[in-house]
Amino acid sequence: MRSLPTLFTALLAMGTTTATAVAADLVPYPVGYRDWAHVKSMVIEPGHPLFDSFGGLHHLYANEKALQGYRAGRFPDGSVIVFDLLSAVSADNAVTEGPRKVLGVMHKDAVRYAATGGWGFEGFVGDSQTERAVADKAVTACFGCHEARKDSDYVFSAWRP
Ligand code: HEC
Repeated sequence: MRSLPTLFTALLAMGTTTATAVAADLVPYPVGYRDWAHVKSMVIEPGHPLFDSFGGLHHLYANEKALQGYRAGRFPDGSVIVFDLLSAVSADNAVTEGPRKVLGVMHKDAVRYAATGGWGFEGFVGDSQTERAVADKAVTACFGCHEARKDSDYVFSAWRP
C-alpha cells in the first residue's frame, strides 16, 4: 500500500521536471521587435516555391546582437531575428500590408538549441504572443531548410549597407 503514493509522487516530480524543461527551451516572444533594426523586406508571390508557407509580404528585424552577427558573419548568443509575415494585398497597382499571418523568430543560444545549429525557431500565429506554430517541431519545420546556410550561421539574409 505504501508503493502507490511513492509512485504517484515520483510521477508528479517527473511531470514537473519535463514541463519545466520544455518551458525553458521555448523561444520567447520578441517583445519590442518593431523598434529593432529593419534588415530587409520581400514579397513572395504565388508560383514561388515558398508560397505555401511564406507567401505574402515579410519584413526582417534584428536586435542589437543580431546586427553584430550580420556584420561579423557569426551570431552571438542572445541574437534574435524576426520574420514578420503579413499578407500582401495587391490593388490599384500597389502592394500593401494586410493582416499578420505569422511572426517567425530565430533566437540564438548555442547550448539550449544545440540540436538546431544553436538557433531556437518559433512561429507565433497571427498577432498572438502565445499561440505557437512550431514548438518542438523546429528540426522538420524550420532547420531542415536553414541547415543549408551553415556557412553563414544558418541565416539566409544579409545586411545591405
Ligand atoms: C524551405 C525553406 C525554409 C523553411 C522551411 C524555413 N525558412 Fe526561414 N527563411 C528561408 C529563407 C529563404 C529566408 C530568407 C528570406 C529573405 O531573404 O527575406 C528565411 C529567413 C528566415 C528568418 C530571418 C533570418 C534569415 O535566415 O534570413 C527567420 C527568423 C526565419 N526564416 C524563421 C523561420 C522559421 C521560424 C521557420 C520554421 C517555421 C523557417 N524559417 C522555415 C527559408 C526557409
